Amino acid sequence: MTSATSLFYPVEADLRLLTENLKQLVSARHPILYAAAEYLFGTEGKRLRPAIVLLLSRATHPNQEITASHRRLAEITEMIHTASLVHDDVVDESALRRGMPTVHSSFGNRVAVLAGDFLFAQSSWYLANLDNLAVVKLLSQVIMDLAEGEIQQGLNRFDTRLSLEAYLKKSYYKTASLMANSAKAAGVLSDVSPEMSDNLYRYGRHVGLAFQIVDDILDFTASTEVLGKPAGSDLQSGNLTAPVLYAMEDNPYLEVLIEKEFTEPEDLEKAIALVRDSQGIERSRELAAHHAHQAAACLAGLPPTESRQTLIDLTDYVLSRLY
Ligand code: FPP
Ligand code: MG
Ligand code: MG
Repeated sequence: MTSATSLFYPVEADLRLLTENLKQLVSARHPILYAAAEYLFGTEGKRLRPAIVLLLSRATHPNQEITASHRRLAEITEMIHTASLVHDDVVDESALRRGMPTVHSSFGNRVAVLAGDFLFAQSSWYLANLDNLAVVKLLSQVIMDLAEGEIQQGLNRFDTRLSLEAYLKKSYYKTASLMANSAKAAGVLSDVSPEMSDNLYRYGRHVGLAFQIVDDILDFTASTEVLGKPAGSDLQSGNLTAPVLYAMEDNPYLEVLIEKEFTEPEDLEKAIALVRDSQGIERSRELAAHHAHQAAACLAGLPPTESRQTLIDLTDYVLSRLY
C-alpha cells in the first residue's frame, strides 16, 4: 500500500511548511496549548485535506507557485478538521487516536474543549481575513455541517430503521462537506469557471464519502493496533454504518441484537461476527469504489499535470487502505 506521505510528493515540502505554521499559530499565542500543539499537529496525521487544497492550487495554476491564500486555506482546512477531532474525542470519550493518547486524556477535558474552541475561532478569523466572501460562505457552511452530522449521528444511535440514504447524508455532513467545500474554495481562489468549481466540489464530496465508507469498513476488518483505536467501536456506540445497514438486510437477528443495545455480555461480539460474515463488507467496498471512481471522473477538465494525477491516484489510495 502506498503511504499518504509518498503519494503527496508534489506538495510534500508544502505540507511540511503547513505543519510548522500550524504548530506556531496555535502555540505562539497560548502557552496552555503549547504542549497540546505537538499532539494536535504532530506527524501522525495523513494531512489528506490540506494536501487536496495544495494539489488543487497547483493543478489549477500550472507552473506557478502556490499562492499565500491557497496556503492559508489549506491551514484553515486542517485547523477545522483538527478542532472537530479534539471535540469529537471528548464527546466519544476516546482515549486513543492514531495510536496516541487523545488531547483530553492527556490534558483533561478543560484543555481539550478550549483547544477545540480556540482552533475553530482561529480558523474563522483567518477565513475572514482571506477577504473572499464566497470562500467564507463555503467554509463556514462546513463548520455548521460538522455540528449537524454529529447531532444526526447522536440522534440515530441504535436506530435500526436508519436508511442508507440517511447514513450517506450524515457522512456528507461529518466528513465529505469539508473536502467538498475546501476543494471548491481552492478553485474559487484560483478563479476557475463556475462549472469547474462545481466539479471540484463533486470531487471532494465523492472522495469524502469513499473515505468515510472505507473507515466504516475498517472498523470491522482491521485490528485495534492498525486502527490506533479500539476496533468495533462504531457498532458498540450504536453508530450504524454501511456494513451494518447492508448486513441487517440479510440477518434479522442482527437487528434484534442492536435494538437490545448489546445488553448480554456476548452480544457485541456476536453482532460484529455477523457483520464480518455477511455480504455487508463486500457491498460497502463496492459503494466506496463507486464514489472513488466518480471522484476521479470529476477531474477530467483539469490540465494534465503531476498534481492532477496525484489527485486521481488519491482516489485509489483511499480504497487501498482496505488491502
Ligand atoms: C469523527 O467521527 C468526527 C467528525 C468527523 C466530526 C466531529 C464533529 C464534532 C464533534 C462537532 C464539532 C463541533 C462544532 C462546534 C462544529 P467518528 O467519531 O465517527 O470517528 P473517529 O473514529 O475518527 O473518532
Ligand atoms: Mg470519535
Ligand atoms: Mg464521533
